[in-house]
Amino acid sequence: SEEIQTLILTTLDTQGNIENTDSLRTADGAPIPYLAVVGVLNSLASKQMVTYTTIEKDHYSLTAEGNEIADSGSHEAKVFNAVDPKQGITIAELTNLLGPSAKIGQGKAFKNKWIKKESDILIREVTSIVDLTQQDVLEIRETGTHSNPATLKDLQSRKHVEKAKLISYSVSKGPKFSLTIEKQATDLTADMLANGSWRTLTFKKYNFAGNPPQGGHLHPLMKVREEFRKIFFELGFEEMPTNKYVESSFWNFDALFQPQQHPARDAHDTFFLLAHLTLEHLVHVDPATSSNFSDMEYVNRVKEVHSHGGYGSIGYGYDWKIEEAEKLILRTHTTSVSSNMLYRLAQETKANGGVFRPAKFFSIDRVYRNETVDATHLAEFHQVEGVIADKNLTLGDLIGFMQVFFEKMGIPSIKFKPAFNPYTEPSMEIFSWHPGLEKWVELGNSGMFRPEMLGAMGLDPDVRVIAWGLGLERPTMIKYGLDNIRELLGHKVDLDMIQSNSACRLDKKMGKELVGRDA
Ligand code: PHE
Repeated sequence: SEEIQTLILTTLDTQGNIENTDSLRTADGAPIPYLAVVGVLNSLASKQMVTYTTIEKDHYSLTAEGNEIADSGSHEAKVFNAVDPKQGITIAELTNLLGPSAKIGQGKAFKNKWIKKESDILIREVTSIVDLTQQDVLEIRETGTHSNPATLKDLQSRKHVEKAKLISYSVSKGPKFSLTIEKQATDLTADMLANGSWRTLTFKKYNFAGNPPQGGHLHPLMKVREEFRKIFFELGFEEMPTNKYVESSFWNFDALFQPQQHPARDAHDTFFLLAHLTLEHLVHVDPATSSNFSDMEYVNRVKEVHSHGGYGSIGYGYDWKIEEAEKLILRTHTTSVSSNMLYRLAQETKANGGVFRPAKFFSIDRVYRNETVDATHLAEFHQVEGVIADKNLTLGDLIGFMQVFFEKMGIPSIKFKPAFNPYTEPSMEIFSWHPGLEKWVELGNSGMFRPEMLGAMGLDPDVRVIAWGLGLERPTMIKYGLDNIRELLGHKVDLDMIQSNSACRLDKKMGKELVGRDA
């Protein structure tokens, strides 16, 4: 089939198109078997190298009897030839000589006036004959058809000839026509990712013509996420765009007033990106840094507040370096998105001539930390995050809102504990009573964003922002009764569990029972 493929491609290259694949011949002049042509055309068309249309044609071929006539003459000719020009032949002798042909051929030979019968002996009526039937079947054998349609009909009814549909193709160049065939990859392998060859390979298209896949099933995490989303939407929150897993250190740390030498930035917690260099082109295709800051004035305000302070703060008093902020990382929290959204809110205020729009944002998406994986920790997990920006919010608003929020989740009884976050002051951890563990468990973390952070963005001093974050995995594991996180995510996940677990309803009744235990 490689030979046929080359033949089709070179013919297209020299002639522009192939009107009919019937005309194709191999190097030694043989026609190409139909099935081989279809196979090659299908494969070339799937790569968009050719397009083709089907040509349907009637084709007549000889039956075994028809071939016998083509090779050794018609029954009537055999009868004529068996009749001795001088003595003739008796019917018994003829039958003895020709077998069944004797009987079949006589009628036609009489009709053609080639022979006649004289007192039980067959004698010739002409000296020579032309075997038209043999000529007709030979014509059909050579050309697949006959110039006279009536003859075709007659020979078909005499079972010398049978009709079939012959399919051939008219072929043109496709949009990706080329003389060489690119080998298409079928699987994306770990090797391709590691050596970068996935960038240049072409992948074989999926064939969706087979059995349709079974309906999909939502992962338990996505079911719980959906419940959380509904709560946020009910409360009038806007969903933040969290589709950037790779983020600059700037938005993940610097904009949040996290000092550059803070241990959370070092390689123990954060996945930093490594540059991927292609030697051929000597360019960075996956850079490890990004210097794509559109607002250098803001960047400089951040530098200033880190180094020397501002907005009522004395700063950290160290030498802030842009190189550190340019490092690309896998975001360690969704607060990187919140910081970017708050900056945009400040820009929007500026564009509106200083008119501030109160905002409520939320997100639920993945974050990454270089942590040792154990029964309750993964290196990637989901955070639920909420942000409320309005004038003159207080810590009382944060506490009050947290009560409303967790009550909606079926947890009416929460406690707060002072905590530390580099970007919030004050900060509070949120605890709820766990009936199974019979103790207070940490649910999340919250606080009021620092004026050093909001002021540098350009938000007015009376704009206060309260925010909180919690994990999605822990409530999901409690809800679905899993005690090892590896049963929830990763290669050990039981697909039957994914297919059969129930829809998530955050259980309000369970919340009421919690009150009882706590009292
Ligand atoms: N970003 C914090 C975390 O990763 C959560 C948080 C969000 C805390 C917003 C305060 C304010 O745990």
